[in-house]
Amino acid sequence: MTATRRTFARCLALLPALLLVAAPAPARDGKALAQAGIATAHPLATAAGQEMLAAGGNAFDAAVAISATLAVVEPFASGLGGGAFWLLHEARSGRQVFVDAREVAPGAATPGMYLDAAGNPVPGSTLTGPLAAGIPGQPAGLVHLAKRYGKLPLGQLLAPAIRHAEEGVAVTRGMVLGLQFRQSAARQSPEFAARFYPGGRPLAEGELLRQPELAATLRRLVRGGFDGYYRGETARLLVDGVRSSGGIWTQDDLAAYRVVEREPVRAVVGGVTVVSAPPPSAGGIALVNTLNMLSGFDRPALDPATRAHLNIEVLRRAFRDRAMLLGDPDFVSIPVARLLSPDYAAGQATTIRLDRATPSDGLAGPGTTVAGGPQTTHFSVIDRAGNRVAGTLSINTFYGAAFMPPGTGVILNNEMDDFVIKPGVANGFALVGTDANAIAPGKRMLSSMAPTFLESPRGVAVLGTPGGSRIISMVLLATLAWIDGAEAPAMVALKRYHHQYQPDVVAFETGAFSDADQAALRTLGHRLEASARPYGNMQVVTWDRATGKVEAASDPRGGGDVTVY
Ligand code: GLY
Repeated sequence: MTATRRTFARCLALLPALLLVAAPAPARDGKALAQAGIATAHPLATAAGQEMLAAGGNAFDAAVAISATLAVVEPFASGLGGGAFWLLHEARSGRQVFVDAREVAPGAATPGMYLDAAGNPVPGSTLTGPLAAGIPGQPAGLVHLAKRYGKLPLGQLLAPAIRHAEEGVAVTRGMVLGLQFRQSAARQSPEFAARFYPGGRPLAEGELLRQPELAATLRRLVRGGFDGYYRGETARLLVDGVRSSGGIWTQDDLAAYRVVEREPVRAVVGGVTVVSAPPPSAGGIALVNTLNMLSGFDRPALDPATRAHLNIEVLRRAFRDRAMLLGDPDFVSIPVARLLSPDYAAGQATTIRLDRATPSDGLAGPGTTVAGGPQTTHFSVIDRAGNRVAGTLSINTFYGAAFMPPGTGVILNNEMDDFVIKPGVANGFALVGTDANAIAPGKRMLSSMAPTFLESPRGVAVLGTPGGSRIISMVLLATLAWIDGAEAPAMVALKRYHHQYQPDVVAFETGAFSDADQAALRTLGHRLEASARPYGNMQVVTWDRATGKVEAASDPRGGGDVTVY
């Protein structure tokens, strides 16, 4: 029995009346689900979600508790200093909504703020320190979710996170890896260094990490709601800390932050309804566009190398459009209908040759690039009423900007790096872009995060993963696997490969291609690069319509945990 399951067994013992006597609420088709399922990247986050369901909360309550707990137990991946996307399905009404709590550029941000006098990028300026941080959205998102969709009070939803911040959590291998990666950056933030590098060395696996300032910040959020973070003491501490270290945030920037509810991207491809992230993420558009392109081919009839070649070619084309056309929809006009249209995809597909790779330089685009690494986190939930949440949360790369404003315990994001700082210059994920994703005050930076629902006569899948630009290829491969009949454990375990238009290389995990398939792909003209280590941390929950079975699976590459009961 895992720690999470033990925790839940204790909850069961305490709450027999609630769980065994209370009739489950009806799903939209009149039937309650026999089970609920949760998959997250950390056992304590899964336990926090369970605690809320056991206390009579719904999937949205669980999502708030999970998101806040992840901020404490995975401080390298997401948190109160970052942003979040939550894709919701309300069983009662059938309504689906995308809650956009993405960071925004501060009011004093300018397109050239990361360039020197000669117009060249200042190395590291978008990645480290408070100038790299957008105005956080996650705290506002937690309040919004709880108020509008939850049943339990915010204090109850944030209690597990506060408890773990106060009492401490065991340092995980993921935390240590990130600390090793950010050690030199940490020197410029004494608060961050003191908490995570006591005595100048990174915390070791198994040590206890206590975060009392973060607990106090969470308590102020409970007491004041939106104002408990974006105005008053927390806002003052954040702005003072940022400005005294070279950042440009103002109190007005924080007070002006707004969560936006958006229509998700929705499309039916080959009998499967895909519901996913709209702009300011490229995730949903790229997913639907690649599936549309693939629908013109008889995939099952192809050998594995040609199938992989085809997947690479559709990714190349979708990422080219990402680079050329996408940005914050509140600032730029995006041809969403065209990009989602099967006819447009059919036109793109005619340029794909099954006997040869298309060089990316042969497709008009904004330029060149280099390498990148992932951080972020994802969780999936289905409750017994049939409500669903796919949540992807981020402070961008490991430990975000590696900067903690004194007195807050909040690690700031370095999400400004997701903007295009100069056309043709690659960001931390080696992505390029155009003015559509240029910096402007109050603008959201383009994301690749893709919290997704798949719906078909077979049932439902709730999925997503961290991984920067690779999120899109991971979600595509898992979607194809589900369409081909895979169950949740196979979806998360699937070996991965990725292409993003520029750089013109196929990154692949060990085991993704046989030797023969590697040779075949090279013969077609692909440049292959083995990834140094496995990547992604996918969390999936599925519901099977015929059997009523709910299944949850956490990526074997990560230290996550699931529950189904
Ligand atoms: N920061 C990664 C993303 O939003 O795509």
